[in-house]
Amino acid sequence: MTKAEPAPARHVAIIMDGNGRWAKKRHLPRVLGHQRGVEAVRRAVRGARELGLEALTLYAFSTENWSRPDEEVSDLMSLMKRFILSDLEEFAAAGVRLKIIGDYRAFKPDVVELVDNAIARTQDNIGTTLAVALNYGSRDEIARAATKAAQKGPITPETIGAELDTADMPPLDLLIRTSGEVRLSNFLLWQAAYAEMLFMDVLWPDFTAEHLREALETFAMRERRYGGR
Ligand code: FPP
Repeated sequence: MTKAEPAPARHVAIIMDGNGRWAKKRHLPRVLGHQRGVEAVRRAVRGARELGLEALTLYAFSTENWSRPDEEVSDLMSLMKRFILSDLEEFAAAGVRLKIIGDYRAFKPDVVELVDNAIARTQDNIGTTLAVALNYGSRDEIARAATKAAQKGPITPETIGAELDTADMPPLDLLIRTSGEVRLSNFLLWQAAYAEMLFMDVLWPDFTAEHLREALETFAMRERRYGGR
């Protein structure tokens, strides 16, 4: 009997790790690593569109990242603002829908306003969904979802799943972490239950569309059994 072709990945998530190490290796300030990281974000989003992904979720700022020095937090915020200002039109025109997971309303009002406008500008797009995790922590997301589910009725995996920030997205197929670190760092813990995982030995600023294509090829070769045989 011939084996069925594996279904292509619909939803890929990335823990973009290694900006600091990229800069350190070159004796450059960390902010330059983050700057190059934004360029990798641009390549990843373009790649996701070209490869026909329905959704790409990027871990940009975790609930734990507030503990970084004020200057680094502020650099990351500035980079995000600059990214929206410089790239929104290209992505909006290409059919990308921007979505945020996490409680981004904790950010400064100017960031919140920019993000809200970007969401509104792309809300009717039906191409790739770009979900950016901002002030996101998976345990926090699950606790919020469970609280909402409990207010509506019995708590089951389905009722919790329906309240997660990712509820309107396809199931997570592939979770990638760059830089060689092998942990989830409080990212999409629930959604990763049956996702394939790929830990890539590339620092995030060096990540290209070709890396994404290779990751999808690796995914396509894996056999997913969801606990069955
Ligand atoms: C991890 O590298 C990266 C981050 C904490 C931030 C990721 C943010 C960006 C790529 C830029 C902004 C995002 C968007 C969507 C425009 P690290 O600093 O922890 O690296 P290290 O582990 O090597 O120190």
